[in-house]
Amino acid sequence: MIDIKDLKKSFGSNHVLNGVNLSVNRGDIVAIIGSSGSGKSTLVRCIAGLEKPDTGQILLNGEEYLDDGKGVGKIGMVFQNFNLFPHYTARENITKPLTIVKKMEASAADEIAEKLLRKVKLENAANQYPATLSGGQKQRLAIARSLAMEPEIIVFDEPTSSLDPSLAHEVFQTIKELAAEGQTMLIVTHQINAIKNFATRVVFLNDGIIEVDGTCGEVFENPTNENLKDFLQMVEFDDL
Ligand SMILES: Nc1ncnc2c1ncn2[C@@H]1O[C@H](COP(=O)(O)OP(=O)(O)O)[C@@H](O)[C@H]1O
Ligand SMILES: [Mg+2]
Repeated sequence: MIDIKDLKKSFGSNHVLNGVNLSVNRGDIVAIIGSSGSGKSTLVRCIAGLEKPDTGQILLNGEEYLDDGKGVGKIGMVFQNFNLFPHYTARENITKPLTIVKKMEASAADEIAEKLLRKVKLENAANQYPATLSGGQKQRLAIARSLAMEPEIIVFDEPTSSLDPSLAHEVFQTIKELAAEGQTMLIVTHQINAIKNFATRVVFLNDGIIEVDGTCGEVFENPTNENLKDFLQMVEFDDL
């Protein structure tokens, strides 16, 4: 579904992505791990079209999708800090992009919002503003808003790293339900235990290169790459 070929990106003299190659198939749940500063956010921001790579290609179903707005809505993104619209209610956070960007009728957008709020267990918070929601509720709302655009793939950048463990757990429950439905996802996270049982693949990014690309077993049980071994020793194995 997504093919990334020899992606490079520098900020001044800081070479952040040094030739990333990655293919994501439909239904894959790809976890991206790596030390802070290794380029994980830059990579997923390039995929979501929020950052422009210097060279290389990103293809969706064989086509470039980042130029001239063709990719709008096809790649969903969920951020660590939620990025909700603070002046809209939970329901409006879902309906406004539909009526404004997708030019959908208000009644149709409302129907989608109701369905998605139920899906992420926020049906009782429809009229609340983001400031009155817990961090876990905010992130589940961000996921619902992303789903409303029917993205082919959702990219999560550390979706639970600002949450307490119990709230992180409820967000991962939602993510796991999406996985069970076949939603294709890329998830940057440090919470190894949370992804260990359901990521179909794990990639280890180090200095802007994918050094390891394998199954959970290959990456977590029998790592051979020395940088990966060092990383796994340092990372927290939060119980989730
Ligand atoms: N917009 C930017 N401008 C300048 N430098 C950036 C920018 N975004 C990221 N960087 C730099 O790129 C490197 C990789 O950052 P990032 O992709 O955020 O890594 P990670 O998400 O793995 O922690 C860091 O050195 C960071 O300072
Ligand atoms: Mg990051």
